[in-house]
Amino acid sequence: MSLFQPTGVELRGKDFLSLSDFSPAEIDYLINLAMELKDLQRKGEPHHFLRGKVLAMIFEKNSTRTRVSFETGIYQLGGQGLFLSSRDLQLGRGETIYDTARVLSRYVQGIMIRTFSHEQVEELAEAADVPVINGLTDLLHPCQVLADLMTIKEKKGRLEGIKVAYIGDGNNVANSLINGCTKMNMEIRVATPLGYEPDANVVEAAKENAGNVILTQDVEEAAKGVDVLYTDVWASMGQEEEQAERQKAFAEYQINSNVLSLAKKDAIVMHCLPAHRGEEITAEVIDGPQSVVFDEAENRLHAQKAIMASIM
Ligand code: CP
Ligand code: NVA
Repeated sequence: MSLFQPTGVELRGKDFLSLSDFSPAEIDYLINLAMELKDLQRKGEPHHFLRGKVLAMIFEKNSTRTRVSFETGIYQLGGQGLFLSSRDLQLGRGETIYDTARVLSRYVQGIMIRTFSHEQVEELAEAADVPVINGLTDLLHPCQVLADLMTIKEKKGRLEGIKVAYIGDGNNVANSLINGCTKMNMEIRVATPLGYEPDANVVEAAKENAGNVILTQDVEEAAKGVDVLYTDVWASMGQEEEQAERQKAFAEYQINSNVLSLAKKDAIVMHCLPAHRGEEITAEVIDGPQSVVFDEAENRLHAQKAIMASIM
């Protein structure tokens, strides 16, 4: 295979900060490339498109999937990942994002960052000479949603017209799902308690896209007849102190067998993980036959290899 990018798809050198920066054709290209890379990996065929290249991976928050899938992914592409905890970097002692970006650009061919402030990632990307990948901010989680779209396409054979219900907190994953689903001409319904809606700017911008975004407080209205049920934790990283208050606010926003029975018979259940069984989702549902959460987690690897191979 080659990394030939068809007319209209120009990804080399681009940052991957938000799915809203990519056209439907570019997202489609990345998903198809991810599927091809998955196939090569399964067959044991080498695909060293990034031989000798290095990805710096800055983590200011915990991670299992993102860290391991990026590190494994760059290795499988013939390159090397560098795990950099922000605590160990001079960044943790006050060195600026600007200087960090300028310096890292002299050593590595790509930077992945997981942090709190989305603006900080934009600042890093602005200052860096190499592509920057958003590995999760408080606002967005685009790598997750690229893998999610790939998973939906694998399971349902298409994206266009697919109906997704996201139930729970209007957080980073919800925001990126709104970006990704509306770009790909899907319907995304987001059910949250009052005061926990997704980002208003993300919702407003998504209205320009081909798909539909529907916000509601009614779980039943969201779940009725959908192809995909999706949820995430009630308290994200950085919100640990709000845990008790959120547990009360979200009590009715759980994916359980009642909610599952409202969706299409062949609906799939998704969760970006880590999950809290008994809170946002019951064990019965997440460990049940309609759950695809581990395929979804696996696809992080393939989707991120497609991102790295395309932009680095
Ligand atoms: N879904 C996800 O990003 O998982 P990690 O926090 O383990 O990276
Ligand atoms: N919304 C969660 C996603 C974790 C992958 C968080 O930000 O903690």
